[in-house]
Amino acid sequence: MANAKELSGAGLRGQIAGKTALSTVGKTGSGLTYRGYDVKDLAAHCEFEEVAHLILKGELPNEAELAAYKKRLKAMRNLPQALKEVLERIPASAHPMDVMRTGCSMLGNLETEQSFAQQQDATDRLLAIFPGLINYWYNFSHKGQRIEVETAADSIAEQFLWTLHGEKPTQLHTDVMNSSLILYAEHEFNASTFTARVCASTLSDMHSCITGAIGSLRGPLHGGANEAAMELIEKMDNPDDAETKLMGMLERKEKIMGFGHAIYAESDPRNAVIKEWSEKLGKANGNTSLYDISVRCEAVMWREKKLFCNADFFHASAYNYMGIPTKLFTPIFVCSRLTGWAAHVMEQRADNRIIRPSAEYTGVEPRSVTPLSSR
Ligand SMILES: CC(C)(COP(=O)(O)OP(=O)(O)OC[C@H]1O[C@@H](n2cnc3c(N)ncnc32)[C@H](O)[C@@H]1OP(=O)(O)O)[C@@H](O)C(=O)NCCC(=O)NCCS
Repeated sequence: MANAKELSGAGLRGQIAGKTALSTVGKTGSGLTYRGYDVKDLAAHCEFEEVAHLILKGELPNEAELAAYKKRLKAMRNLPQALKEVLERIPASAHPMDVMRTGCSMLGNLETEQSFAQQQDATDRLLAIFPGLINYWYNFSHKGQRIEVETAADSIAEQFLWTLHGEKPTQLHTDVMNSSLILYAEHEFNASTFTARVCASTLSDMHSCITGAIGSLRGPLHGGANEAAMELIEKMDNPDDAETKLMGMLERKEKIMGFGHAIYAESDPRNAVIKEWSEKLGKANGNTSLYDISVRCEAVMWREKKLFCNADFFHASAYNYMGIPTKLFTPIFVCSRLTGWAAHVMEQRADNRIIRPSAEYTGVEPRSVTPLSSR
């Protein structure tokens, strides 16, 4: 049954704001499908490039198509000199999501999408360049190192970890990253995707749509939740301490990041997948403390509030186990969700009408202007 907030129309909850053939959320299968495939099925059997191909081009690739797509993306990783110079001027204190936003926007100046015929090229270029872009800035600003972004990495998952750590990642870490990128790739009319579609509906360019979407994803109620979850669990010493701290937060009516969802009612299908990876990573590292703390948080939140972990909660421990700095968590989300955003932009363009809803006016009654000298 709809609650009071839904009935008031706040947050456009439950309202159909457009059509999509890209995904379903909370309707079929485990709760999330991309072009008819269950996300768990995709995460179990595919690598991220296969899913990107599915989302952007409509079908999973065959072996030859996948090899060609990966080769194409691999050849598009270079950072233009002007972009490197901009990245080098952004201070270490900047939020990496601001770096992503600026990087995307700068690329739009250097390699402007001249017509919609270039939309796939513009998207592939962003897919290929984003991991190296953020890690170029991170390594330069934090370690004074100018890294090589044209690595031998075989995939986007490997490319992210390789450009961050400066070496080929383990197979386990590459597998987790692949899975993570698949889980985050697409999610219907969420806030950032809707931002991209609104921008696309004005017939704007791809880089503007993606830059706007990055800005929306940055907030802690959306993509920023995985970082906020990490900041929470790293303050907890052990599962008992986690329970005490969580109970205190609930008493103070604080929001616990990484829990709850605007659409899912009882569970987020992405959670089970990343939770399993988090446990495997903890065991491989010989320290399951963060995982154990996270499991207790999950139990307490369900027991006390019937709130469940969303995709972000166990991503925090999984990313931490792979040595990824907390501030880079949300940029990984960007590297993945770019596929969904771009596909929505393409879908909007293919059947467009400018998105322009109306508002219920709650301001003062009509009045006339008092001349400035009399106010
Ligand atoms: C995702 C989220 C924004 C959904 O918001 P929403 O659909 O507006 O859900 P509501 O805020 O209506 O939630 C219903 C109730 O549960 C509470 N609630 C929801 N999520 C909560 C959380 N993470 N911690 C504590 N309480 C929470 C709300 O305060 C609200 O209580 P109220 O009715 O007394 O005001 C919300 O659950 C949230 O802020 N979660 C934390 C941020 C997060 O993890 N975001 C990533 C989403 S993938």
